[in-house]
Amino acid sequence: MESSQLKEIIQGIPKAELHLHIEGSFEPELMFEMAKRNNITLDYDSIESLKKAYKFNNLQEFLDIYYTGAQVLIHEQDFFDLTWEYLTKVHSQNVVHVEIFFDPQTHTDRGIGFDVVINGIRKALEKAKQELGISFKLIMSYLRHLSEEKAFKTLEQSIPFKDWIDGVGLDSSEMGNPPSKFVNVFKASAEQGYKLVAHAGEEGPADYIWEALDLLKVVRIDHGNRCLDDEALVQRLLDENMALTLCPLSNVELKVIQKMEEHPVAKMLKKGILATIHSDDPAYFGGYMNENYYETAKALNLNKDQLKQLAINGFEASWLSSEEKVKHISRVDAYFDSLH
Ligand code: ADE
Ligand code: ZN
Repeated sequence: MESSQLKEIIQGIPKAELHLHIEGSFEPELMFEMAKRNNITLDYDSIESLKKAYKFNNLQEFLDIYYTGAQVLIHEQDFFDLTWEYLTKVHSQNVVHVEIFFDPQTHTDRGIGFDVVINGIRKALEKAKQELGISFKLIMSYLRHLSEEKAFKTLEQSIPFKDWIDGVGLDSSEMGNPPSKFVNVFKASAEQGYKLVAHAGEEGPADYIWEALDLLKVVRIDHGNRCLDDEALVQRLLDENMALTLCPLSNVELKVIQKMEEHPVAKMLKKGILATIHSDDPAYFGGYMNENYYETAKALNLNKDQLKQLAINGFEASWLSSEEKVKHISRVDAYFDSLH
């Protein structure tokens, strides 16, 4: 397929984004603008020099820069602007449903109120629902390099905003911070009615995916690339129709894989795994949803049926109601029918 034709097809697919860190959508241009209005001096003297620093050998090198960038976010308006910019961007790419992560501890540890963070994000999500027709869910992520006790504190801070939070996740430095470290706080989170997800098997081993399933009792695995190392685990994912939220450009940029041609998503689809594609931290990894679809499709030679399966899987794996899923999936079907 011609690349222009492939891009046009991808643009037209109605899509759901289920793995997106809002702090990872912080574009350098907005970061500089916000730094200026908040009187913060960045370590970089220009947008270009900041962008040049976006070369990572592993997850930790990325996280160090990502947490530094987030320090520019101070006021409710900042969290609103960040979220609104992301939502208008993905709206232009025909993303119609989002389930986004925020990292409260990245902000509360700097003395920013939990309320400041969530009010800004929530207002942008509401506005996007009204004005752009994007539906949404919100997921609060615990930082796994911090203690479980600190995660408990975050859980406690979230309670007044419980109606705005659909689930909890687990992100940050994976190696050495296995899911088992957070068993108690995940149990307590479930008791509050939160759905559970966790990053597992991004850099960490297949064992971490087992732990996320067996100990944390998650309903979705974020990344999960390493599952193909373990046949019994693949069978488990199939038996439970467990979704994996894959992030191909992120995987290349963080050297989880050496090149896109090695991405496991095509193998996963072939096995019948509920594999889905998302952008993770688009401002840092060179692309939003469409670019992730495009680069993956190009490198792996995905055909229209595989693209359609990925789009359907995105809605299937979402937390939309069954009726909403049916509605979106029938739109994906109709779109692909219209291409013939
Ligand atoms: N936080 C933001 N992006 C992340 C990723 N790819 N893995 C773990 N934690 C993250
Ligand atoms: Zn992630």
